[in-house]
Amino acid sequence: MKVTKAVIPAAGFGTRMLPWSKSVPKEMLPIVDKPAIQYIIEEAVASGIEDVLIITGRGKSALDDYFDYSPELESKLSLSGKLSDLEEVRGSADIANIFYVRQKEMKGLGHAIWRAKAFVGNSPFAVLLPDDIMMADKPVIKQLIEAAEKYNASAVGTQKVSLDVISKYSSLKVSALEDRVFKVSDMNEKPTPAEAFSEYAILGRYVLTPEIFELLANTQPGYGGEIQLTDGLNALCKQSDMVAVDFEGKRYDAGNLQGYLETMVDFALRDSNVGDWFRDFIGGKV
Ligand code: G1P
Repeated sequence: MKVTKAVIPAAGFGTRMLPWSKSVPKEMLPIVDKPAIQYIIEEAVASGIEDVLIITGRGKSALDDYFDYSPELESKLSLSGKLSDLEEVRGSADIANIFYVRQKEMKGLGHAIWRAKAFVGNSPFAVLLPDDIMMADKPVIKQLIEAAEKYNASAVGTQKVSLDVISKYSSLKVSALEDRVFKVSDMNEKPTPAEAFSEYAILGRYVLTPEIFELLANTQPGYGGEIQLTDGLNALCKQSDMVAVDFEGKRYDAGNLQGYLETMVDFALRDSNVGDWFRDFIGGKV
């Protein structure tokens, strides 16, 4: 199974980051010196992805501007000898083959992914939710692709979360296949602690087969009145094999203020340019 296409749903309003997200896409939030979505695309590219579809919506044109060439800026940087800046600016535009489609109505994550049908065609594809930023030695989506290949199955990324917070996620009914890999047989979106199948939550990474599109087309609105990807996946795991990968790495939720601050601090501490300075700065405060 070769996975060369990825889908990044980025149409949401970002209501957990208001008022800032009113006029700037939350995917453009800086984490140190790059927008959040660039980390997601870098993870995909480091995992063998060549083509990336970003599902956008109204008010998101800063995303396609960012991944475009910027001739005036580039010639100014070139003339003034700022060659490393020039390289960065060009690099972000050449990072992958990037495509866009709009989700014209906000009908939920499942509906957003369904918009990728024509782009995906007949091969398995990756989905990366841009709020979920990963810090991992081996890219998390690569860990999923390897498990999907090994089991000839679709795959979801999981980690245990406490039952107190399971209602922010989908919970999985799983049985062990090997260390860190489970077979998935059921799931539910945003369960109460009593409804949860387990503490294993899906955390923003998926490898799916194109069968998902027909299932999503037939998925009725679920939690929150929206077409939930989880409900489509639940149908998928009942008709073909699906594994859950308890991935190695730390996952950050950069889509809310507290999680964003955690992401920024941890990535800044590891940054080769500002990390040492930032550690001293923070150390002086506490
Ligand atoms: C989405 C998914 C949910 C998943 C979560 C992971 O929820 O619907 O199943 O567990 O991402 O971050 P959202 O964060 O959009 O509410």
